[in-house]
Amino acid sequence: MKLIVLNLSLLFLSLHLSSVFHFAIAKGGLISSNFSGLGDISYVGSARHLFEEKKFSMQEHIKRLNKLAEGYMSNAELEKAIKEFNRRCSSISRVYSIGESVLGVPLWVIEISDKPGKEEPEPAFKFIGNVHGDEPVGRELLLLLANWLCDNYMQHPLATLIVNNVHLHILPSLNPDGFQSRLRGNAKNVDLNRDFPDQFFHMNDDLGMRQPETKAIMSWLEKIHFTASATLHGGALVANYPWDGTTDEKKYYYACPDDKTFRFMASLYSNSHHNMSLSKEFPGGITNGAKWYPIYGGMQDWNYIYAGCFELTLEISDDKWPNASEIPVLWEFNRMSMLNLVASLVKTGIQGRIFSSDYGSPLAASISIKGINSTIKAGKVFADYHRLLTPGEKYEVVASMPGYKSKSTRIMLGEEASTVDFILDPVVAARDDLLPSRCDCSSFEKREQKLIELLPGQHSEILIIVILILLFLCFLMKRRVILNYLRPKQMAGQKRPLVV
Ligand SMILES: *[C@@H]1O[C@H](CO)[C@@H](O)[C@H](O)[C@H]1NC(C)=O
Ligand SMILES: *[C@@H]1O[C@H](CO)[C@@H](O)[C@H](O)[C@H]1NC(C)=O
Ligand SMILES: *[C@@H]1O[C@H](CO)[C@@H](O)[C@H](O)[C@H]1NC(C)=O
Ligand SMILES: *[C@@H]1O[C@H](CO)[C@@H](O)[C@H](O)[C@H]1NC(C)=O
Ligand SMILES: [Zn+2]
Repeated sequence: MKLIVLNLSLLFLSLHLSSVFHFAIAKGGLISSNFSGLGDISYVGSARHLFEEKKFSMQEHIKRLNKLAEGYMSNAELEKAIKEFNRRCSSISRVYSIGESVLGVPLWVIEISDKPGKEEPEPAFKFIGNVHGDEPVGRELLLLLANWLCDNYMQHPLATLIVNNVHLHILPSLNPDGFQSRLRGNAKNVDLNRDFPDQFFHMNDDLGMRQPETKAIMSWLEKIHFTASATLHGGALVANYPWDGTTDEKKYYYACPDDKTFRFMASLYSNSHHNMSLSKEFPGGITNGAKWYPIYGGMQDWNYIYAGCFELTLEISDDKWPNASEIPVLWEFNRMSMLNLVASLVKTGIQGRIFSSDYGSPLAASISIKGINSTIKAGKVFADYHRLLTPGEKYEVVASMPGYKSKSTRIMLGEEASTVDFILDPVVAARDDLLPSRCDCSSFEKREQKLIELLPGQHSEILIIVILILLFLCFLMKRRVILNYLRPKQMAGQKRPLVV
C-alpha cells in the first residue's frame, strides 16, 4: 500500500521535476518513506559512498554528462555499430529488434552463435546494458564483447566454446531514450528496473501502465528460453543476486531457493574481475540484493520467478558515467568475467534431454532438484534443459511432466558439467493401445489378423509363436527410435551421459 502511494506521488512529482536532486544509486535509489512535499526530490541511496552529498542543479548535471557523453556512442552511432558488427561477422551473428522505446528507437539485439536464429539444444544467455539511461558503460562494453567474440572465434578457446555451444543474445541498450536525456528513467521518467511484476507487491500489475521497454523484455522471454542472464549497471562495483526485495520492505539477507547457485555465479563474475572481489564494502564482491537495499518490480527477480532464468545485476563501475577514456580499461577489468559467466552455462551444472518412452518424442518436462523449491522447463522443440548448480555437491534431479511418471536420479556433480537424460513413461500406459500409431506396428497387426484367418484352430501354437516374434521385433524398433534421439552433443573431455 505504502508503495502504491509512493509510486503515485513519484509519478506526480515527476511531472514537476524539481531542479535539485541527488544522484540515484545504481540498482535502486530508495525513496525515503517519510519524505513529503515537492521541494526536494531526493533519491536517497542507502549505499554510503554512492550517495553524493553535493547537490547539483539539474542543468549543471546534464551539462556535465553531455560533455562526458561526447566520447560515448550516440544512439545513432550505436545502431550503426551494431549493423556494422553484423556485416563484419555475419556468419556467426544476426541482428533483430525486440521492440521500440517510448520515443520509437528500436531495441536492437545481437545474437551470437554458430547457428544464429536457429533452434538448437543449447543454452541461451542474455546480456542487457543501459537499463538506466545514465549508466552507459554497459552499452559500450557489450559492443566490445560482441566484437571480441567475432575476432577470437576459432582462436581463443572461450570464444569458440561460447559461439559453438551457446546462443548469446546482447541488448546493448534497453533505455536509449534515457541515455539521450542523460536520465535514469525512460522517456516517461519510469525506472525500468521497477516496472516488472513483483512477487510481493502488486504495484505493477496494471498492464496498461507498463512501459514499452518492459513489455519488450517480457515478450522476449516468451519467445526465447534463457538459461541465465546479466544486466549491466553502474554506480558500484558488485555482483548482485536475488532476492532483491523482502516481504516487509526491511533490509536483510533474503535468500531465494537457488541462493547457493547464485552465490556461485556472482562469485564467478567477481573472482574473474580485476578487483571486484577485493571490495571492502561487499565481502567477496557479491551481495544479496535485499541485504544491500530492497527494491520492488526489478527485472532480476522477475526473470528467475517467471522464466526460470538465473539473472544477476552487475554493478560494473563505481562511477556511473566515467570519462570515455576509461572504457578500454573497464572492458579489460570485466572481459574475463563476462566470458566466464556465459561459458559457465556449458562448463558447469547439469544438462540433458527428456523423451517419452513410447515413441521417443521430446517432452518439454520440468526439472527440479530435491530440496530446492524452483523448477526449470525443458525447451519445447528439443526438450533440452540446462541447469546451473554449485559444483562439487550431490543432487537428486527430478524430471516431471503431466501425464508421465516422474523419474529421479542422484548425481554427484563435479567441477565439470554433467549430462543427465530422462526417458519418462506415460501414466496411463495401456501399452497395447499405444502401440499401433507411430512405430508402424499396425502393419504387423494387420498381418497377424490375416494369419489368424489363414490358420484356423489347430495351428494355434504356431500362431502364438509368430505373434511373439512380431511383438519382439516391434519392441526392438521402438528402442531404436529412442536411442536415435539420445545422441547427445559431445563436448571436449565430457563424460558419457547418464540416461535415466
Ligand atoms: C524520517 O526521516 C528522518 C531523517 O530523514 C528520520 O530521522 C526519521 O526517523 C524518519 N521518520 C520516519 C517516520 O520514518
Ligand atoms: C576525459 O579525459 C580526457 C583525457 O584523459 C580529457 O582530455 C577530457 O577533458 C576528459 N573529459 C571530460 C569531460 O572530463
Ligand atoms: C579497483 O581498481 C580501480 C582502478 O584501479 C580503483 O579505482 C578501485 O578503487 C579499485 N576497487 C577496489 C575494490 O579495489
Ligand atoms: C515453493 O515456492 C512457492 C512459490 O514459488 C511457494 O508458494 C511454496 O510454498 C514453496 N514451497 C515450499 C515447500 O517452500
Ligand atoms: Zn542501474
